[in-house]
Amino acid sequence: MTDDALYPCSFVIFGATGHLSATKLLPALFDLEAGGRLPDVTNFIAFARRQYDDESWAAQMEQWLRQHRPERFQPELFRKFAARFSYVRGDLHEVESFHRLLEELGKPKTGVCSNIVFYLAISPADFGAVASNLAQVGLNRPRGLHRIVVEKPFGEDLESAQTLNRLLHEHFDEKQIFRIDHYLGKETVQNLIVFRFANLLVEPLWNRNYIDHVQITVAESAGIETRAGYYDRTGALRDMLQNHLMQLLTLVAMEPPAALEPDALRDEKVKVLRSVRPIQRRALHAHAFRAQYVAGSTAGTPVVGYRDETGVEEGSITETYVAAKLLIDNWRWRGVPFYLRTGKRLQSSQSLVAIRFKHTPQQLFRETPLEDTAPNWIILGLQPRESMSMEIHARQPGLGLHTRTIHMDAGYRGDSKRPIEAYEALLLDIIRGDQTNFIRFDEVEWAWRVVEPILRAWTHEREHIHTYAAGSWGPPQANRLFEWDYQDWRNQL
Ligand code: BG6
Repeated sequence: MTDDALYPCSFVIFGATGHLSATKLLPALFDLEAGGRLPDVTNFIAFARRQYDDESWAAQMEQWLRQHRPERFQPELFRKFAARFSYVRGDLHEVESFHRLLEELGKPKTGVCSNIVFYLAISPADFGAVASNLAQVGLNRPRGLHRIVVEKPFGEDLESAQTLNRLLHEHFDEKQIFRIDHYLGKETVQNLIVFRFANLLVEPLWNRNYIDHVQITVAESAGIETRAGYYDRTGALRDMLQNHLMQLLTLVAMEPPAALEPDALRDEKVKVLRSVRPIQRRALHAHAFRAQYVAGSTAGTPVVGYRDETGVEEGSITETYVAAKLLIDNWRWRGVPFYLRTGKRLQSSQSLVAIRFKHTPQQLFRETPLEDTAPNWIILGLQPRESMSMEIHARQPGLGLHTRTIHMDAGYRGDSKRPIEAYEALLLDIIRGDQTNFIRFDEVEWAWRVVEPILRAWTHEREHIHTYAAGSWGPPQANRLFEWDYQDWRNQL
């Protein structure tokens, strides 16, 4: 029996038939099943509007899991997994549906338990209705422990995030609210803290005395898939930068926490966000850049431009690419630019944190072929490969004084080991009730404060948006954010 088996639970997925559930949640729950990590008593209830019964729902899940977990799918395992599920057909806005849910919770498939997780894989516009309907039928009370999990983006700006938070707090207290950002479940992201604070070698160099700039890139080769309805209203700034990239920024920049406890860690992250220099309206173009993909090709296959994707509004100026330069005004980082960039339909899916160091203070090798020694880099690869690499210089063996850059490269997961999906790790945390890797509301607020000047300006500038061909690395005009000519994007590990 693993430790996890100590946490029996009923797990309700609102929006069970949606994209997130089909592509991320169900596969991750299935992975937990395959790894023997689900407590014996784990009941799942899929709640959605579509017409399924338990049997046809299982058939639908089987289709998704065969598609998203082809290598792990085994009929026997699937039968065990599917036997935990019941399907409740319901409307998020009708309290009767919640009475049916309550009834279903009383007939658990694998055993009674008092812990219940409500996972809101639905549009944020419906969060309030669900919270209040759960309260109407008495499901918000922490008998055992009832938790509510909400996805990012939390709100669409500061004000709506605050309203949403008030709505949730009318019925649930902070200990029950899990604001998820799945980047915090990624191995390399979790490793950032270990890398920074368990290595004496790294920490003394991690500041403005040695670091020239930091780049955080999350590049995706995929387009918007079937999510136009959501994406066209949201855009890359809200979908990715305000949350995933900002979380990466806080972990790269924060001070060591007093302890590895949820609040100590989150206090430090908030301090970073509070220190980000507010972007002034007149300097906006030097700090933020947006663009949209037009037709091109990815991996040799022609793909349509954003405006021709099904469901995108005609003439939409929603950004599918965003880059920003942020400055952190504290002792550690003053004067070190942080360049953040993310986009859809880029040349390849590469996510990395790249730290560029300054040049050595003395050009000792002047008038030798070493004159142009490149700077050192530390690169943390998030995906596709989880890795840490360091670029340093060494003398080339042989006559004369020549150097080469050596890449010290450590993939830190053995190739034979299956990668852990971010959702898998976080779903387990939710079942256990551990909030360390979830977002506290003040983090959300401060992250919105950082991006609000950009949002506001872009709401008014509606005539023009830069474009880039699908399959490229984005528009060259994004380079206008760099402070110095020698700075440039790192696209590869
Ligand atoms: C989601 C965004 O939060 O993250 C998607 O809504 C994006 O637009 C996805 O594709 C990227 O996640 P990952 O884990 O594939 O990098």
